[in-house]
Amino acid sequence: MAQIVGAITTSHVPAIGRAMAKGLEQDAYWKPFFDGFPPVRDWLAEVLPDVAIVIYNDHGLNFFLDKMPTFAVGAASEYRNADEGWGIPTVPAFRGDPALSWHLIESLIADDFDLTTCQEMLVDHAFTLPLALCWPDHRWPVRTVPVCINTVQSPLPSAKRCYRLGQAIGRAVASWHSDDKVLIVGTGGLSHQLDGTRAGFINKPFDLEFMDSMTRDPTWATQYSTAELIERAGTQGIELLNWLVARGALPRSARKLHSNYHIPISNTASGLMLLAA
Ligand code: DHB
Ligand code: FE
Repeated sequence: MAQIVGAITTSHVPAIGRAMAKGLEQDAYWKPFFDGFPPVRDWLAEVLPDVAIVIYNDHGLNFFLDKMPTFAVGAASEYRNADEGWGIPTVPAFRGDPALSWHLIESLIADDFDLTTCQEMLVDHAFTLPLALCWPDHRWPVRTVPVCINTVQSPLPSAKRCYRLGQAIGRAVASWHSDDKVLIVGTGGLSHQLDGTRAGFINKPFDLEFMDSMTRDPTWATQYSTAELIERAGTQGIELLNWLVARGALPRSARKLHSNYHIPISNTASGLMLLAA
């Protein structure tokens, strides 16, 4: 049976791609952020996952506001990055895993999650940058399955629903007939707001409590409605729903191996966690 080895949850700001392209990792502004990643890379080099299920949100590249699935799963043999308008360099295509994608889709639909299935899918900075932070040489040693959550256009799925989706992903992987080691990646957050009168809003106490809850009390955030989470984390901080899906896929007993938190990266409070299943 396939085995989930752990989860990496991280922010996904486009400026990170620009910083990597320009080699600014040791710059004073960037160093506290990039210094979070060597322990993650060491763990990946030791564990050597075969496939990554990447939980993220699209920002208008693959889905626009006219068609917005709540949950979408990729079932392509390859996922290409395109510049969605930030001017950041694109990265090489990612290998898919259609067999695992279809197993996941069938298992999730049997579990009452009504998905959009994508046999073609472009991936944006929310998918590419976290993987580039894990593997800066862009040689992608894992096959990938994108799971896209609507954190963009109201109405959004609830935190409770997202956590349960993660649990269903965990069950789907556990019933997958293969010896694969599966990595879960959850991207986005933490607190940030890019628009409106609260643009620039960051909430460090909330972020730190949320990160702590990932191991102490993983369903803690599910006590809040989407509106309450937006109030606490910002209109884009609600991307933390992707962290909750990732967390739900891991056993209750998952352990924290490493974390980092740094304010700000662009307009965002950047968080990073490495959890072992
Ligand atoms: C920023 C953060 C995001 O999550 C995003 O998708 C785009 C931009 C930012 O802080 O600049
Ligand atoms: Fe985002």
